Amino acid sequence: MKISVIYVSQTGHTDEAAEYIQDGILAKYPFVQVKLMNLREEEPDLEFLAQSQAVIFGTPVYFSSMSWELKKWFDHSFRINLKGKLGAAFVTAQSPTGGVDTAIMEVLRHMLVKGMLIFSGTGEGAAHKFQIGAVGMGKEIEKSAGEFEEFGESVAQMAIKLFEK
Ligand SMILES: Cc1cc2nc3c(=O)[nH]c(=O)nc-3n(C[C@H](O)[C@H](O)[C@H](O)COP(=O)(O)O)c2cc1C
Repeated sequence: MKISVIYVSQTGHTDEAAEYIQDGILAKYPFVQVKLMNLREEEPDLEFLAQSQAVIFGTPVYFSSMSWELKKWFDHSFRINLKGKLGAAFVTAQSPTGGVDTAIMEVLRHMLVKGMLIFSGTGEGAAHKFQIGAVGMGKEIEKSAGEFEEFGESVAQMAIKLFEK
C-alpha cells in the first residue's frame, strides 16, 4: 500500500500538516509507504504516484483558493493517470473564514476531473470534523496536529478497506 501526499508549502505550515498526516498514517499502519512531495521543492515521484492507491493533496489557501503551484500541477497533469485512486484534500490558512471550504472544494473538483474517488477523511469518532477535508490554521498549526493525524489514519483506513485484498 502506497500513499502519495502532494502539496505546496511556502512558509512551512502545510509542510508541517503533511508531516502530521504522515505520522497519523504510520502510527496506525506502519506497513504503508508514504511519500511527501512538496511541489515547491521537487518534481513529484511519478513512479511512486502511479503505484499509489491513495493520493492526498494539500495547499495553503491563497485568495480563498488553491495555490497557483498546485493549480499549475493539475493543469500540466494530462498524462498522469489518477483514475480510480482514492483522493482527499487538506489546506492551511490564516483564518477559518478565509476561504478554506472554497479552496478544498476547488482541489476536490480537480480530483474529480482526474477520475479519482473522493473521500472527506472523516472517521468513526464524533470528534472528527472533516466534512470535506482537513483544515489547520497556519500560525498555530501544531494545535491541529491531532486532527491531521486522525485525517491521515482515516484516509489510510479507507484505502486499505477499498484496495487491500
Ligand atoms: C498570496 C497569499 C494569499 C493568501 N490568501 C489567504 C486567504 O485568502 N485566506 C486565508 O485564510 N489565508 C490566506 N493566506 C495565508 C496562507 O494560506 C497561510 O499562511 C498558510 O498557512 C501558508 O502555508 P505555508 O506556510 O505552507 O506556505 C495567503 C497567503 C499568501 C502568501
